[in-house]
Amino acid sequence: MDLGIAGKRAVVIGGSQALGLAVCERLAQEGVNLVVFARDAARLEEARAHIRRIREVRVDVVAGDITSEADVDRLAQVTSETGGAQILVLNTPRPPSPMRDFLDETDNERWRQAYENQLHGALLVLRKVTPLLIGPGWGRVVAITSASIKQPMPRHAVSTIFRAGVQAALKHLSMELAAHGVTVNSVAPATVITPTFRPPFHNVEERVRAVPLKRGGRPEELSALVAFLASDLAGFITGENIQLDGGQTRALY
Ligand SMILES: NC(=O)c1ccc[n+]([C@@H]2O[C@H](COP(=O)([O-])OP(=O)(O)OC[C@H]3O[C@@H](n4cnc5c(N)ncnc54)[C@H](OP(=O)(O)O)[C@@H]3O)[C@@H](O)[C@H]2O)c1
Repeated sequence: MDLGIAGKRAVVIGGSQALGLAVCERLAQEGVNLVVFARDAARLEEARAHIRRIREVRVDVVAGDITSEADVDRLAQVTSETGGAQILVLNTPRPPSPMRDFLDETDNERWRQAYENQLHGALLVLRKVTPLLIGPGWGRVVAITSASIKQPMPRHAVSTIFRAGVQAALKHLSMELAAHGVTVNSVAPATVITPTFRPPFHNVEERVRAVPLKRGGRPEELSALVAFLASDLAGFITGENIQLDGGQTRALY
């Protein structure tokens, strides 16, 4: 299936490992050029070399922190000065570990960190990078959030509360950008097994046992969905959130 996005350019936030890297791999297979953003410069270089072994698309890397306005400004500037972008994949960072129940989260500093890396950072990227997509009448924003936005999970309050805000921002953005031909959607994973999906953050065996399909998800399954939502074929889908959780979310919609 031709996704119709060869030659386009995507900014991928958090694209240097795990789910974000899987998205970069998949977009590169489709012939999409990439601007990859994450904090660790050495890991970004490894990711660049890895992606280019898959396909020799252009891969630019920008080292920075999603919570820093200066870093996100630099990402937008570098992207703009090097040819712009038509696709934004906002892979939100994980909340601070370990997870605890709502009333056990007594540490104000952790609430502040979670707010900054989940909601504040996402808003910075959406406000500063998305405008680069406006103009040609075609653009795609795809966010990777969490299944917890539809069904809050025990001990995930520090994640769910701010991710719900991200989801609200995406819905607003979808309405605002529709007239420009820019679609805005999100993917909500649960129990997709990556090298970083492990203790102490996750008890993998216990989590897999709770999946109705009785297995963990594969990063390629998530990246295929992201690539589809970023594709030309998905042009009539906007403001949507799609779960990728093996049936775990017990919600009608
Ligand atoms: N796997 C699942 O089943 C599942 C379920 C629910 C939700 N999710 C969510 O899906 C998202 C991706 O998960 P993952 O397992 O792939 O995460 P991960 O392994 O922690 O990778 C996160 C990526 O984002 C970058 N990053 C982290 N903090 C950053 C920051 N402050 N500024 C810029 N870049 C940052 C990391 O690189 P640096 O460290 O170098 O910055 C890395 O490239 C997370 O929000 C996670 O909670 C996943």
